[in-house]
Formats: sequence, structure tokens, C-alpha cells
Amino acid sequence: MYNYTIQSLENLEFIEIAPVSELPNGERLFVDIANKSIVIFNIAGQYFAIGDVCSHDDGPVGDGIIEGNNIVCPRHGGEFDIRTGRAMQMPAVVDIPAYPVKIIDGNILVGMPK
Ligand code: FES
Repeated sequence: MYNYTIQSLENLEFIEIAPVSELPNGERLFVDIANKSIVIFNIAGQYFAIGDVCSHDDGPVGDGIIEGNNIVCPRHGGEFDIRTGRAMQMPAVVDIPAYPVKIIDGNILVGMPK
């Protein structure tokens, strides 16, 4: 399981995704990077990126509602911390990937493992 919070940032390659104008406050952006489905959030100007596949039963976790720091998987209600990908609520017990996000020159970049 990849989680940047426990990895060295030196092992990441930041990939340009889109201009920030394509991800307004409160919205989410679904992208595929290196054959991985990823969802990026803009929450009050803070950006987060997690894998869009639930670790419980492959549900579309990125479609879930956000409660506090958690996103609630729409399939069975498992919850994950969108900052770290950590599984927070049953039936989810395995973390999902989380990726760092940078804004540089008005563009969104997501850090992927090299
Ligand atoms: S598929 Fe997400 S909680 Fe079951």
C-alpha cells in the first residue's frame, strides 16, 4: 500500500494534472494517472488526492460524501481519512493510497511514486 505520509517525498514524481480553475472549492476531480484511478479534492483551498477504489470491495469511494476529515464510501459506509487514506470506519480496515498535492504556477500537481 502506498501512502506518502510514510514515504520520503524524494521518491515522488509530481505530475501536472490541470489548472486550479478546473477544481473550484468544494469540487472534486477524477483522473487516471499511471493506470491508477485518483480523486482530487479542493476543500476550502486545501487539496487532497486519494485512490478512487475502496479497499473493502472496490467501491467508488471518491463519490462519497465528506464528513469532517473523512470520506464515506457510498457502497457500504466504510470511511477513510482523505488526508492520509487511513481506514477509519468498518467495514473498511485496509488503508487506501493518498498522494501529496502541490499547486505551482496555477496548476495542480500530484506526487506519484517514481
Ligand atoms: S466497497 Fe467501500 S465500504 Fe464496501
